[in-house]
Amino acid sequence: MHNFKYYTPTKVVFGKGTEKQVAELIKEFGGKKVLIHYGGGSVIRSGLLQTVTDILDDAGISYILLGGAVPNPRLGLVYEGIDLCKKEGIDFILAVGGGSAIDSAKAIGYGVANEGDVWDFYDYKREATGCLPLGVILTLSATGSEMSDSSVITKEEGLVKRGYSSDFSRPKFAIMNPELTMTLPDYQTACGCTDIMMHTMERYFTQGANMEITDAIAEGLLRTVMNNAKILVKDPKNYEARAEVMWAGSLAHNDLTGCGNDGGDWMAHKLEHELGGLFDVAHGAGLAAVWGSWARYVYLNCLPRFKKFALNVMNVENSGSDEEIALKGIEAMEDFYREIHMPTNLRELGVDATDEQLVEMAHKCAVGVGGAMGSAKLLDEQDMLAIFRACR
Ligand code: NZQ
Ligand code: ZN
Repeated sequence: MHNFKYYTPTKVVFGKGTEKQVAELIKEFGGKKVLIHYGGGSVIRSGLLQTVTDILDDAGISYILLGGAVPNPRLGLVYEGIDLCKKEGIDFILAVGGGSAIDSAKAIGYGVANEGDVWDFYDYKREATGCLPLGVILTLSATGSEMSDSSVITKEEGLVKRGYSSDFSRPKFAIMNPELTMTLPDYQTACGCTDIMMHTMERYFTQGANMEITDAIAEGLLRTVMNNAKILVKDPKNYEARAEVMWAGSLAHNDLTGCGNDGGDWMAHKLEHELGGLFDVAHGAGLAAVWGSWARYVYLNCLPRFKKFALNVMNVENSGSDEEIALKGIEAMEDFYREIHMPTNLRELGVDATDEQLVEMAHKCAVGVGGAMGSAKLLDEQDMLAIFRACR
């Protein structure tokens, strides 16, 4: 087992009607003038934004609004948000939405608390020394950004999608009412479940030391999300299933499922970020599309973990060679993706990429990870290209 740090300072307020506590939570964390940041309008259509502004009005908390965070959120809006916050003397950001609104809020928070170009952090040129405090009202269970230290931003020029992680950006509070996710299109619900599982699997398929307790949590989380994702395909308004998935989403990416391992593989995510940057696909769907090709490319190098996964998560029968069992586990996972209507290759994702585009993505990916990355198997640019070609 490796040494580890576990830091999850976010105050979680979970359950029906919890958004009503937003004003007292903002006050608890010192917010006096708030930027409410949201996406393309789902929170207007659902009435959530109106509820929030009414509550802040009643509590005498002043605020300004900035919507427009798109899936794969853009740097341009981040710059706009930073200027707005500085001009208006904002001291707290409230993100209302999914991972894109939250990540955009985090980037704005970095830009206000640090001099210079905020992209420097996403370009790995320097480290942030702070972030404006932020809180979250979550409307989509997926990224875990409501408790994570990460944010992912796309720079319009060159369509470069990059993540930056630091504890400064961990939200002060996260309001999680599973009912708020009931207005989601089925596709986004399935994308979210896929992303949640992938955050756990990235930490599971690793070399070297592991912890039994961490594996047990990870395997239980994966089984729970699979069960409830299937329930939500048929019964999208099922509160219990929404709640199971929502809490799993936070636990999957607040580092709980990585304690004691080597930090994770993360290559499926890095490959997907190239797809998101170039083709603007939904993150979870992009992950499902690359995962099978990634898994088949690396599994022999990480056979004990793929076998354990097949037996403990995918319920594969314990007969045949380790290799056969591992492959059955990969196939079973792809069957699950199909069952929840997720793609298992680029064609099903709706991406008709040319070979030049695959070469470009592999190159950008390799540059983004500093040459090579991966724990299940270390992958360089040629490996990345081979995986992209395999999932075409
Ligand atoms: O923009 P609006 O109108 O709000 O609509 C959104 C968007 O179209 C919609 N939506 C959200 N909640 C809804 C809803 N529609 C109806 N009812 C609701 N309750 O869903 C669409 C997708 O929203 P988005 O926020 O983009 O999705 P998600 O939460 O999956 O976030 C994806 C982004 O997060 C990044 C991804 O790369 C991607 O850019 N990630 C962030 C991570 C982190 N910060 O820790 C980790 C992840 O691995 C991931 O990379
Ligand atoms: Zn993800």
